[in-house]
Amino acid sequence: MKKKIVIANWKMNHDFYETTSFLRNLLKIFFEKKINNKKKVIIAPSFPFLHISNQILQGSSLSLAAQNICQMENGSYTGEVSASMLRSIGIHKVILGHSERRKYFSETNDILLKKIKIALKYGFHIIFCIGETALEREKNEQFLIVKKQLEETVFHCSSLEEISYFIIAYEPIWAIGTGKTATSEEAQTMHRYIRSLFIDKYGEKVSQKMSILYGGSINDLNARNLFSQEDIDGGLVGNSSLEIEKFLKIIQS
Ligand code: 13P
Repeated sequence: MKKKIVIANWKMNHDFYETTSFLRNLLKIFFEKKINNKKKVIIAPSFPFLHISNQILQGSSLSLAAQNICQMENGSYTGEVSASMLRSIGIHKVILGHSERRKYFSETNDILLKKIKIALKYGFHIIFCIGETALEREKNEQFLIVKKQLEETVFHCSSLEEISYFIIAYEPIWAIGTGKTATSEEAQTMHRYIRSLFIDKYGEKVSQKMSILYGGSINDLNARNLFSQEDIDGGLVGNSSLEIEKFLKIIQS
């Protein structure tokens, strides 16, 4: 059975103190409330705090993801962080393809494909984000867009083993940080469509096991409804993951 997964994408939020105290408190609550590991909880803090975060979470059921990696392996790329650097501090999950990286840092599908290849080479699990803009949905192009995003990136992977390293996150851009969530039906329809694309390309077995998460204005009030849909295997959470009480409610949903 697929595990339900909740991922906190903290983006460029939380400094050293906020990061470490959040994680210590979360661990304490997990322990006290005996929150079991049938659910997988992943936190994606900023680069400078991944190392200390990993030390804090050692031996717990919580794990970490980086928010990005460089598409180059190593060398003269000022300001970048490589997959091998992250592996050397024990990080082996990464978020790629987030719409904010596509929009503000010009990450194209070509660049993302390079990042995927490097990530897989270093054994990373990849949380890969796809999703349409408001205008594309208005024009009813959301299915075409999502298909194209996959065809130009993830679908270049040929082996089933590689595909087993992916978690897909459907994040409609119009829902990110806007307080406007996709309805459970809209999200379920898209998730089922995404799964069908994987089934067509890679077969039932690997595709039924793949976790497809929803992201975009998830909060403590709408999470339960979204997560109860058949093809929604959890969430990628931005704003509501920054406060421990809200995030806990989402985990418990
Ligand atoms: P919000 O939950 O703030 O809408 O952000 C979603 C997101 O972008 C997660 O990656």
